[in-house]
Amino acid sequence: MATAPHRPDHGALMDQVYRGQRHIYDLTRKYYLFGRDRLIRELDGRPGMAALELGCGTGRNLRLISSSWPGMHCFGLDISSEMLKNARKRLGTTGTLALGDATSFDAPALFGRAGFDRVVLSYALSMIPDWQAALTRAGAALAPGGSLHVVDFGDCDGLPAPLRRLLDAWLARFHVSPRRDLPEVAERLARAQGLRMHVLRGPLGYYQLVRLTR
Ligand SMILES: C[S@@+](CC[C@H](N)C(=O)[O-])C[C@H]1O[C@@H](n2cnc3c(N)ncnc32)[C@H](O)[C@@H]1O
Repeated sequence: MATAPHRPDHGALMDQVYRGQRHIYDLTRKYYLFGRDRLIRELDGRPGMAALELGCGTGRNLRLISSSWPGMHCFGLDISSEMLKNARKRLGTTGTLALGDATSFDAPALFGRAGFDRVVLSYALSMIPDWQAALTRAGAALAPGGSLHVVDFGDCDGLPAPLRRLLDAWLARFHVSPRRDLPEVAERLARAQGLRMHVLRGPLGYYQLVRLTR
């Protein structure tokens, strides 16, 4: 597994969050990280294509991408060596994993390629302090014709305000900050990098899906 330079403080924080949590992560997150399966269904992969997930965590999504879209080559990057322990176990030889920071990784050095047909950011931007840099870096990693797929917490404006406040407070305990201005930031990126953008809101605004195509 390759290693890229990254912010040791943030990596250490993520390791601290996930050292124990990684054992119950998949079981618990399926009840509140909605929209991930939809993102995977809509990837429209083809044999031979390369998919990169930034902030791949336990490898849950990469495993599903590889079974839903046979023949795709799967790559994953995460800043937490704890989470990568699960991902490595789950993916075995079916994916290439690297330890690194989504805001500043060197794809050719880590993965032996600069461009990817599909890039995925699933509930990762809400945990990355400089999430706008990660989004820009993800866009730059797209091969011609490639697409970037983001799913993360939305504005939740279909939820009663007290419940929304409760959710925000609970997420903050895990260092999660919903990126409510994601569509505006993604639109600026689309203009700067010449990408086409499509935004979708999940039920009650709980999650948002953004797709950017080169
Ligand atoms: C909520 S988990 C999401 C994991 C997975 N994408 C999923 O959908 O289940 C967020 C992941 O982002 C990773 N992460 C946080 N900041 C990162 C960064 N700067 N670079 C790479 N990964 C990061 C964390 O270590 C964690 O594995």
